[in-house]
Amino acid sequence: MHVYLGSDHGGYRMKETLKEWVKGACYELTDLGCFSEEACDYPDIAKEVCEKVKQDRGSRGVLVCGTGIGMSMVANKFPGIRAALCANEFMAQMAREHNDAQIICMGGRVVDDAMAKKMLEIFLKTNFSGEERHVRRVRKIEGR
Ligand code: RB5
Repeated sequence: MHVYLGSDHGGYRMKETLKEWVKGACYELTDLGCFSEEACDYPDIAKEVCEKVKQDRGSRGVLVCGTGIGMSMVANKFPGIRAALCANEFMAQMAREHNDAQIICMGGRVVDDAMAKKMLEIFLKTNFSGEERHVRRVRKIEGR
């Protein structure tokens, strides 16, 4: 599974921490920026990650900004992308089991590094339940 990572300046430090964790866990990864704490616009980075995740079926994305809110707002504008803003382990698990999210969004100024790593591990390891009611609800997100 390939993991695409992106952040703005508010999430840069956490994105770097998560990148090291992803490497250590032996996933393939691509860091789509930003590459310093210099201020940048989160919609530009979210777009990069969403386009890659859409092209690369089965891949996952991680988007970090100060709160995770801006990143999730942008990512959910991309048809077919389901981005989940998570703040605890239960949300990360449900984002996969019930919502079949491909992208996890986090707030670098909201959760600590330990929680961020735990959420990412759960997010990458948990499969969509595939239960009929969840398949139906996920289809309805796309208006199908
Ligand atoms: C940047 O200061 C901040 O607004 C951004 O990182 C994010 O929290 C937006 O949702």
